[in-house]
Amino acid sequence: MKQPFAHPMMPLATHDEAARQNFVADLKIHMEEEVYPANKLVYEHRVRPAFYRRHQRPPRDRHEVRHAMERDPFCQAWSSIARTLQEMLWYNVGETIERQLPDLISRAKVADPIGSLALDGTMSIPRYNAAIDIHCMPGGYGGQVAKDDVFAGALVDRGGYYYVLPFMGYRAHGYTDTARAPYGGAAGYNILRLLREKFPGLKPRRILDMGCGIGRGTFPYVDAFPEAEIHAVDVAAPQVRYGHARAEAFGKRIHFSQQNAERTSFPNGHFDLVVSHGLFHETSGKAVRAIVREIHRLLAPGGVTLHSDPQLGRGLDPHDAYMHDWDTYYNNEPFWGPLHDIPPKQLFGEAGFPADSVIEAWAMIDANGSPAIVPANDHDSRLNRSSLFGARKAL
Ligand SMILES: C[S@@+](CC[C@H](N)C(=O)[O-])C[C@H]1O[C@@H](n2cnc3c(N)ncnc32)[C@H](O)[C@@H]1O
Repeated sequence: MKQPFAHPMMPLATHDEAARQNFVADLKIHMEEEVYPANKLVYEHRVRPAFYRRHQRPPRDRHEVRHAMERDPFCQAWSSIARTLQEMLWYNVGETIERQLPDLISRAKVADPIGSLALDGTMSIPRYNAAIDIHCMPGGYGGQVAKDDVFAGALVDRGGYYYVLPFMGYRAHGYTDTARAPYGGAAGYNILRLLREKFPGLKPRRILDMGCGIGRGTFPYVDAFPEAEIHAVDVAAPQVRYGHARAEAFGKRIHFSQQNAERTSFPNGHFDLVVSHGLFHETSGKAVRAIVREIHRLLAPGGVTLHSDPQLGRGLDPHDAYMHDWDTYYNNEPFWGPLHDIPPKQLFGEAGFPADSVIEAWAMIDANGSPAIVPANDHDSRLNRSSLFGARKAL
């Protein structure tokens, strides 16, 4: 039975709850590996020829492919199963958390922490975060159902495990996030790999993780730079509350605070390294630009910033680009697709980073099932990588 790594904050499932969660994960894996690939055949043999007959040309981009595919019964069937499985995932994990919520809330109140937690009950939560049940997660990151609530943090922890299980070659390599990164955080390890390759001498004194959620991506930096002071910010209170308790349970010293990454309270030039994992594709285009400007303000001269997000889909053929964009339209991820249309060179350049310092790479699992970092390019149209991108502030 597949179960996330148990730790003192992880909500534990009964036998029947775990069976339901495994059913959803197994069906998601089956769909990902056996059913979704047939979509390309349907496109090539049925949808593209019909489009050609109507327009005397093939579809130009992912949007034209989507409009054409939406009318096809095969596409309608798999898409509706994928959406239903996503809703079932959160529903099933949610019942496990609800059953033990009062206990989780009291366990989250840590006596004598080695790190810290600062909440801001007065801050206004940006609409792109508060108004969306992101990837169909009920209540999104910040929804609260009780005083001092940690429900949404626990949902990300336990539910996130089942969410990522179908990706990244699980069948082919027996890969799970648990095997490679026992408490999640694979994106943090990928950034560290790239950081060591590009900036082998960097010894950051202060590190900031933006959009830290429950701190999954933050842990690897605590281990890699034990001397550094590590801060982690997120707009959602239940994320940092749960994240703080989880970090304390693992003995990781992290200073969590509820802050908007667009404008934080830290002084100019305070950090040598600013990172994020999965932040950019879940904020509006306007916010992404404001966050990069804020990072430029926060970095010391020569400081480095690196980010991990789902693969930026430039260079994919129109069908693969459409498949990659599915979440934008059917999984409540409205900012996923638009992020692909903002090239990192432009994004970091506009914020004042030197153009020649901008980095873009892919993190992937190689043929042997090992993690690897390769240079990104616009001509290789394979999917299932993470994009790593960033820049260095001028000295
Ligand atoms: C995909 S989650 C990633 C969480 C975490 N980094 C991880 O790797 O598990 C994105 C996080 O960004 C947070 N977020 C979105 N916009 C933000 C903003 N403007 N400032 C701070 N956090 C933000 C969300 O609340 C959410 O927790």
